[in-house]
Amino acid sequence: MTGAAIPATLIPGDGIGPEITDATLVVLDALGVPFEWDRQVAGLKGMVEENDALPEKALASIRKTRVALKGPLETPSGRGYRSSNVRLREEFKLFANLRPARTWIPGGRYDNIDLVVVRENLEGLYTGYEHYIPIGGDPHGVAMSTGVNTRQGARRVIDYAFQFAVSHGRKKITIVHKANILKALTGLFLETARDLYAQKYAGQIVMDDVIVDACAMKLVTNPWQFDVLVTTNMFGDILSDLVAGLIGGLGLAPGANIGADAAVCEAVHGSARDIAGRGIANPGALMLGAAMMLDHLERPDDATRLRRALSDTLNVDGIRTGDLGGTATTSSFAQAVAKRIRG
Ligand SMILES: NC(=O)c1ccc[n+]([C@@H]2O[C@H](COP(=O)([O-])OP(=O)(O)OC[C@H]3O[C@@H](n4cnc5c(N)ncnc54)[C@H](O)[C@@H]3O)[C@@H](O)[C@H]2O)c1
Repeated sequence: MTGAAIPATLIPGDGIGPEITDATLVVLDALGVPFEWDRQVAGLKGMVEENDALPEKALASIRKTRVALKGPLETPSGRGYRSSNVRLREEFKLFANLRPARTWIPGGRYDNIDLVVVRENLEGLYTGYEHYIPIGGDPHGVAMSTGVNTRQGARRVIDYAFQFAVSHGRKKITIVHKANILKALTGLFLETARDLYAQKYAGQIVMDDVIVDACAMKLVTNPWQFDVLVTTNMFGDILSDLVAGLIGGLGLAPGANIGADAAVCEAVHGSARDIAGRGIANPGALMLGAAMMLDHLERPDDATRLRRALSDTLNVDGIRTGDLGGTATTSSFAQAVAKRIRG
């Protein structure tokens, strides 16, 4: 172990969460990063054990450590408790969701992909202002939802995206919107980006913009024209899964939720109930989430060692889990990455 202990919250999560978390810890142990984990439950496990999908103990832990590594948390669709992920973002004002998509295995349908989607994480259509209006005997005759974007919220995430892009040597930021139809809701996002660019970033980086539907098409036909994409909450949610598809699926797609006072790093995928408990899940996305956490903790050398070991395991050793066409188990893959780290 090197350096002073680093307190951090660990939420293994639901479904395959505990399996991929154990695998990620094997790799972090091999790196020798002196994490002092505070294990907490949330999601379905939180409901079962604490009768709360985001128990106060988990919140108190993150308030203290200010950084968390989180496995997938289950949310029932169309009913039941509110998403613990959305509550976490709101509680800690995790305003930016950073989702890099990079080719880890060359030779696929799309090669040399290196994109980052920065998604506004707190506003838009995910604010949860929803209700039904009963009509006749149908309690769900009409469904209504209100999206809320603010200039301050847009400015905060766009400014973060510009700073990220400039400090990481990126060449271009593309603002993704639907300002032709949702003129107020997403027009405000575009207007704020243009103002901010003129005030602070013109000359440092290129900025352009694109309507979300055209962006989806362009991402499929020529993804290499993009570099950093910045967009509102729902478009970001959808496009970040699209870019994960470009690099071969969710198994190698990490995400970081960044706020002024805390960061929560994770895999983009969900709890994968269909394969939970079978020891075959790909832990790569959570390992890459851990690498983002190391970046956030300003340990770029450890993050680079982790990413390089993962890449060598996949491409030099040819060790892959089933979703990537291999036969490795979750734990044998982790052992292989750890072996690469130890050299
Ligand atoms: N960040 C999060 O906590 C998060 C994100 C997405 C979904 N969810 C939740 O997860 C639950 C299930 O969601 P879903 O079924 O839509 O998506 P999912 O990502 O769990 O599964 C989609 C498909 O991908 C496969 N898959 C996902 N991760 C994999 C991995 N690491 N290795 C191999 N295969 C993998 C699954 O087996 C499944 O076939 C829902 O309750 C949802 O709300 C949580």
